[in-house]
Amino acid sequence: MPDTITIIDNRTGKKYEVPVHDGMVNATDLRQIKTSEEDFGLGSYDPGFMNTAACTSRITYIDGDKGILRYRGYPIEELAEKSTYLETAYLVLYGELPSKAQLDDWTYNITHHSILHENIKKFIDGFHHDAHPMSILISTVAALSTFYSEAKNIYDAESRQKQTYRLVAKMPTIAGFAYRHSIGMPYAYPDNDLTYTGNFLNMLFKMTELKYQPNPVLERALDVLFILHADHEQNISTNVMRGVGSAHSDPYCSVAAAAAALYGPLHGGANEQVLRMLNEIGHKDKVPGFIAKVKAGEGRLMGFGHRVYKNYDPRAKIIKRTAEEVFELTGRNPLIDIALELERIALEDEYFISHKLYPNVDFYSGIIYLAMGFPIEMFPVLFALGRTPGWLAQWEESILDPEQKITRPRQLYIGADERDYVPLTSRG
Ligand code: ACO
Repeated sequence: MPDTITIIDNRTGKKYEVPVHDGMVNATDLRQIKTSEEDFGLGSYDPGFMNTAACTSRITYIDGDKGILRYRGYPIEELAEKSTYLETAYLVLYGELPSKAQLDDWTYNITHHSILHENIKKFIDGFHHDAHPMSILISTVAALSTFYSEAKNIYDAESRQKQTYRLVAKMPTIAGFAYRHSIGMPYAYPDNDLTYTGNFLNMLFKMTELKYQPNPVLERALDVLFILHADHEQNISTNVMRGVGSAHSDPYCSVAAAAAALYGPLHGGANEQVLRMLNEIGHKDKVPGFIAKVKAGEGRLMGFGHRVYKNYDPRAKIIKRTAEEVFELTGRNPLIDIALELERIALEDEYFISHKLYPNVDFYSGIIYLAMGFPIEMFPVLFALGRTPGWLAQWEESILDPEQKITRPRQLYIGADERDYVPLTSRG
């Protein structure tokens, strides 16, 4: 059976044979389908990229119908159980699990690139006391590009490697400084004796003690959450990372743009919105009324639904388990009961069943973050921190892919036809 598709253009009666690779037609192959010589050729109209692949990738595999997520072929369940965040970040970035020597080297380099230039403190100081930490993170990551001008050399492998160390290492420090600024606490500097996640907790929560000791249960839980967020193929923030990167901008500006996309409540900002929603519902008994409102079109059930998963998000399953471990330590947050009741009713409800709406990663992550002592505003920041290796891996794959070009979708112009300028005095 030939791997082609035959198209008959009923406008002209002409027949075309178009190759099919891996279940895809090349959109530019449609351009040969014309009604006349002047015709530009057939295009495809796809707002939101519902059915368009814009790249090939070897990083993350998702089967949304079956609820499968793998990084470089490894199931997310195994990584969440057996790996650490830094090891998973290495896997996502370089394609293979590291040897002992590679992991030691990677850990050393990340640990030794975590300090920020002292000048950065000055502009973090300039933000208003109630500035959202995600806005501080986005601006500060962009500002890092002013310190590392060699980052512009995106085709220099050594420079890319250096910026990768810096970005993975400095995101927690920026996040820590943004948080401490918002509560008026002095900044806490990195502690090289701690793990990546342990040090992050240190930079957030260290008080007057000489040495901060992270709680191992919380440290592991946060590490697992970071593993779950490390990459998620072509979501909006990754798409932005690739898009901005396609113009050959430096990786700091590209990560800032990706983080800006992540901040939106329909993407990584959803974890913050879930908490606001649960607080607004206030009690288990009010859940049916809230669900009825969602079904009537008055708002969305935040933390539910996904463009790709039409089944339970595998990350949400792991998070639910992690939540139980955290609650054993911190005590049960009453919001979890509202969340469980929401999930129970929604999963039995015809609207949610027929729309294939299941809890996504953001539904439970916020409740864990809250139990760990993070303020709600920090939730998207935690997501951005976890996602940084994924953005960088996708960026590098994209700029080294010979098939990639500067991102430039076409449009279907439906505006006014040519018309003469009307002087101000003649306008109605
Ligand atoms: N609550 C209620 N109805 C929903 C929800 C929801 N959370 N999500 C989708 N729907 C409905 C829509 O109203 C629409 O219904 P209709 O066909 O009857 O008009 C249908 O399901 C399809 O929705 P779309 O918005 O077209 O689906 P899309 O794939 O574009 O959106 C998205 C996916 C943005 C995630 C959506 O499900 C949503 O807004 N969810 C809530 C926000 C959220 O949790 N975002 C985090 C996603 S995970 C992440 O980014 C990390």
